[in-house]
Amino acid sequence: MMTREDARARDAADPLRPFRARFALPEGVIYLDGNSLGPLPLSAVPALADCVERQWGDRLIRSWNEGWIEAPRRLGGKIARLIGAQAHEVIVADSTSANLFKALVAALNRDPARRTIVSELGNFHTDLHIAEGAIGCVPGASLRAVPREAVLDALGSDTAVLLLTHVHYKTAERFDLGAITQGAHDAGALVLWDFSHSAGALPIDLNSANADLAVGCGYKYLNGGPGAPAWLFVAERWHDTLGNPLSGWMGHAAPFAFEDRYRPASGMDRWLTGTPPILGLAALEAGVDLWLEASLDTAWAKSQALFDTMAAIGDSLGLACVSPRDAGRRGSHISFRHPDAHALCQALIARGVIGDFRAPDILRLGLTPLYIGFEDIVRAGEILADILQSGSYRAPIFSKRHAVT
Ligand SMILES: Cc1ncc(COP(=O)(O)O)c(C=O)c1O
Repeated sequence: MMTREDARARDAADPLRPFRARFALPEGVIYLDGNSLGPLPLSAVPALADCVERQWGDRLIRSWNEGWIEAPRRLGGKIARLIGAQAHEVIVADSTSANLFKALVAALNRDPARRTIVSELGNFHTDLHIAEGAIGCVPGASLRAVPREAVLDALGSDTAVLLLTHVHYKTAERFDLGAITQGAHDAGALVLWDFSHSAGALPIDLNSANADLAVGCGYKYLNGGPGAPAWLFVAERWHDTLGNPLSGWMGHAAPFAFEDRYRPASGMDRWLTGTPPILGLAALEAGVDLWLEASLDTAWAKSQALFDTMAAIGDSLGLACVSPRDAGRRGSHISFRHPDAHALCQALIARGVIGDFRAPDILRLGLTPLYIGFEDIVRAGEILADILQSGSYRAPIFSKRHAVT
């Protein structure tokens, strides 16, 4: 197992180490939750101040023509570089849930003979909930949710779209992007990938995988802040075929022509619906700009080493790791199954180690290499060992459930 000294040496040699100082990380906190809510990039503070005080306060409505109206496209182009897409294939808009809805309904409307969504049982619940909502909006549509290993077999001549989360939110298990996409294409279906736990977590190449559609969160690994706008990728070959069912004025070919009839804009602009959330976009841009200075390959290599360090600690404590040991089959978090995972998580938080609990029995720890070091992991392991061995997590205070876990 890694000692504190080894950990310090690893941190000293870490090429990503300078990024740590670029985030607000509270003293005494080891933040293993950047896969839920990324920490504040220090550059977001002046960026937001400028957006509020100068752009909104002073320039007022003139700011729409001084960069605001371009922001969804500009940020989309930046995120495209992190996910292997072309700049004009990504737009930032709405929430991940809303983008899932738009993309699912579009896929269902592509071919009347294909009106089924196939997905994974145990997928992140918003994906399944939104799929339920989407089929309710398209006559004859249905949802077939099957166990993970059966998703390709569940595809048929009626399948419009396969909806999958690339990296599983609980276990960190990762689907093979290229193989699953190919399998779906062989069955004549599109694939809609949820990259919420992938973008900014590991290198991805959507275009090499011939992906059709993808969505992802802005507030996790991209560090865009609470409720940050999300992104949507539509492969160029689908730009003219697929339409946004939330046909709002910002997706119109000429929003300021004030026409009665909807005419979709070309390219990704049609996937906009209403007025872009400028303050949220400003914060997200600060987070994404940081990523553009870093190397995802270096981050992913470090993530693997952080995982191995934490997995060895878990093994030494007899914890059941439910994340794949094979880095080729997982994302950038590690999860342990424990009957008292909720109490363990709360006890850790009380000692400054912030991770999260996923019902019913998962303790999930995010490994975010831009600001987490090896010494953090070793210290978190020491605290976890103490909590487990002393049984302090059994204190009644740690069983209290909050609204957000
Ligand atoms: C896989 C996945 N999809 C979607 C979401 C959330 O979507 P939204 O930003 O719309 O709340 C999450 C949030 O944790 C997630 O893990």
